[in-house]
Amino acid sequence: MKKGLHAIESASRDEIAALQVERLKWTLHHAYDNVAHYKTSFDAAGIHPDDFRELADLAKFPFTSKQDLRDNYPYGMFAVPREQVARIHASSGTTGKPTVVGYTQQDIDTWAELIARSIYASGGRPGDIVHVAYGYGLFTGGLGAHYGAEKLGCTVIPMSGGQTEKQVQLICDFKPNIIMVTPSYMLNIADEFRRQGIDPRSTALRIGIHGAEPWTDAMRGEIENAFGIDAIDIYGLSEVIGPGVANECTESKDGPVIWEDHFYPEIIDSNTGAVLPEGSQGELVFTSLSKEAMPVIRYRTRDLTRLLPPTSRSMRRIGKITGRSDDMLIIRGVNVFPTQIEELILRQAKLSPHYMLEVTRDGHLDSIKVNVELKPEFQFASSAEKEFVVHDLQHHIKSYIGISARIDVVEVGGIERSAGKAKRVIDKRPN
Ligand code: DLL
Repeated sequence: MKKGLHAIESASRDEIAALQVERLKWTLHHAYDNVAHYKTSFDAAGIHPDDFRELADLAKFPFTSKQDLRDNYPYGMFAVPREQVARIHASSGTTGKPTVVGYTQQDIDTWAELIARSIYASGGRPGDIVHVAYGYGLFTGGLGAHYGAEKLGCTVIPMSGGQTEKQVQLICDFKPNIIMVTPSYMLNIADEFRRQGIDPRSTALRIGIHGAEPWTDAMRGEIENAFGIDAIDIYGLSEVIGPGVANECTESKDGPVIWEDHFYPEIIDSNTGAVLPEGSQGELVFTSLSKEAMPVIRYRTRDLTRLLPPTSRSMRRIGKITGRSDDMLIIRGVNVFPTQIEELILRQAKLSPHYMLEVTRDGHLDSIKVNVELKPEFQFASSAEKEFVVHDLQHHIKSYIGISARIDVVEVGGIERSAGKAKRVIDKRPN
């Protein structure tokens, strides 16, 4: 066993597969016996947990989608009595209702263990000071990172996101060695350092652990140069557990290692649902192996990537997430669906449902502009009235969705019409 690693991180592939089979048997039964949705969907597919004998059998079980979670809002996917649920988190959904996830105390311990493992893989050690600038709250980023850093034996600074000037002050004064934050916000912090005339390379930071949104190797280079640190990729999603489903190893920086003792990955063809051979690009699907409160069976992440062979650990890796197969936008780490914005637009009496979201990258940060038409029957009585509507919509988008948007109210006919599906997003961000 390699020093500092959990035994399973350097186990043989056979050992890992055996553990996965054993845990999948448990998970399939646990889900079927305790969650009405899984009983119904397995029965409809004519499959029973007892039909699972080897890893390949998993492909016979039905997928789970974000829609299934929404249909069972808020607690319908839980496999334990609500009293045993120690914590709730939630992420944005298209209907305005969030997707709810729950954890038992054991799940929280497992999660903390996996984040501790992730920070270790990133090069962090007990005794390090960790500055957490992921948002605290319903979002899994802040609290997820927090508990894991504590578990590893680090000193945690629970800064949360925002207040960029203060971020800089604390990094200078508290001297963290590690920062956990979205990559785009990390670059924003770099800009603030420079604005204050402080060299971002002069801090005690050694490691950045970045995720929650897609980022390229070019962005990694920018962060590493700006701060003189190692920038490491952390991947995860609320439905599967939160951050720490996979994490890159600092010695190879070759894509996040999936913690395969807790999550079983598959890559499928998004259109046919067929499992694709190892190495093919497709949609990432996860089955949880140990989760008690909310097991997920073949959860479709919509993230497009491929599975790569093991390198620094015995577990497989994922390549960089190249995009998503649905319409969810990620703006500065916040999940945004066009329909959420639509809902808020339509609360304004004078605004029409003809709208288009324009996403650009200003410097390092994503920025979103909502172009929306006035209803033909209305005129604004004054520019003050227009200002009022614009500010009101901005305020709602900020408070309900959590992002700052620019608003452009255009004349009737100003938004391109489509004969088929409306095109709601122009994504002008460079790939
Ligand atoms: O973003 C969990 C997380 C927090 C991960 C902090 C890493 C760090 P959700 O809000 O549910 O959970 O969003 C999950 O974000 O399906 C991906 O599309 C995207 N995503 C997360 N990590 C990465 C990454 C958190 N490293 C969705 N690279 C996922 C690319 C990522 N995309």
